[in-house]
Amino acid sequence: MKVVLGVAGGIAAYKAASLLRLFTEGGHDVTVVPTAAALHFVGAPTWSALSGKPVATEVWSDVHEVKHVRLGQEADLVVVAPATADLIARAAHGLADDLLTNVLLTASCPVVLAPAMHTEMWEHAATQANIALLSERGVHIVPPASGRLTGKDSGPGRLPEPEDLYAVCLRELARAGSRAAASGVSAAPATGVRGPLAGRRVVITAGGTREPLDPVRYLGNNSSGKQGYALARVAASRGAVVTLVAAHTALADPAGVQVQRVGTALELKAAVEALVPEADVVVMAAAVADFRPAAYADHKIKKTHDPADPDAAPTIDLVRNPDILAGIVAVRGSTVSPVVVGFAAETGDGEHAVLDLGREKLARKGCDLLVVNEVGADRTFGKDDNLVHILRQGSDDVTEVGPASKDDVAAAVWDAVQSLL
Ligand code: C5P
Repeated sequence: MKVVLGVAGGIAAYKAASLLRLFTEGGHDVTVVPTAAALHFVGAPTWSALSGKPVATEVWSDVHEVKHVRLGQEADLVVVAPATADLIARAAHGLADDLLTNVLLTASCPVVLAPAMHTEMWEHAATQANIALLSERGVHIVPPASGRLTGKDSGPGRLPEPEDLYAVCLRELARAGSRAAASGVSAAPATGVRGPLAGRRVVITAGGTREPLDPVRYLGNNSSGKQGYALARVAASRGAVVTLVAAHTALADPAGVQVQRVGTALELKAAVEALVPEADVVVMAAAVADFRPAAYADHKIKKTHDPADPDAAPTIDLVRNPDILAGIVAVRGSTVSPVVVGFAAETGDGEHAVLDLGREKLARKGCDLLVVNEVGADRTFGKDDNLVHILRQGSDDVTEVGPASKDDVAAAVWDAVQSLL
């Protein structure tokens, strides 16, 4: 999709660089249009290097290309992040005194503005009136987050995190795509997003299963679900039709993704198995419990469960859960043949290196790709960065990724999957 990323002159301009990365990783064609003030915060070389395109703030460069009209006319989405009080005022009143305001006047696509400024400026009657005017005209306003501002003060005015802005933008693109499809204008793909995974059905599991002992207790694990969610976000941004089977996680549903919530390993198995026949790719990023309590107590297990011995602790018997990943591989045949990706969280055991354990697991599980990550007390779980090795069935090649953000790891995993599709 063709995206214009407008950047106005606020300190939060640095966050727009991450937003730009998310768009480009997602296969979008992004032109950055900063205001002159924005360049005081982040310079043109950064925008140019990250977008792979020249950057202009005024209408006077490359006049023969009639950029001030063409950029807005051709865009599928214009997003301004951060949008300062000044930019919002100029947009509301239809000024066209630089390239960005010209783009805003010529755009017929969805426009997203993400205001960021000090609380007093945001709450000022002038800014609020301008916001109301833009909103009435159909501009999508992403309300600022509350929290620490540039100085010591805090309050509403922070630019939301790039991942959240990206999700809003994808949703706007998808909406525009379905509106166009409904009105008979060019058939939009299912998500409205074109990309290397367009039309592919992918199933991703994420989070940690919880195996209940009684109505209030369970056996669980430390998985945050962040890597699986990043895989879902990146797949959706590349055009895939994504179903995310989410075991326990505190994360909000990613935009443009269908989410099925599950609790136990057996529930996750049932959900995945129902989806496999239609899937082109299955990615098992969930931390599935290998064991579950053999019995479920209908009532809370009492502290003194044995009156004869009040200090005795109960013994919990466990039974094995089925290996869902191995089960999917086992039923693969001529009619059902998705690419299957497994994850392996390894700690190494002194005797065996993490990679050796990974290779052994890849052979045992029979999946096409295995993403091996080293875990430990302060590694991977809940963290935003990850270091992984991607192993391929039948090959000695290893792709090392990281330490990198979970979005970057997800992009590398999808690159590897795409080479198998
Ligand atoms: O054997 P291990 O649990 O290390 O394997 C991890 C991989 O297997 C992950 O992809 C996980 O989602 C999957 N798995 C599974 N069913 C289980 C346990 C793990 O599908 N019961």
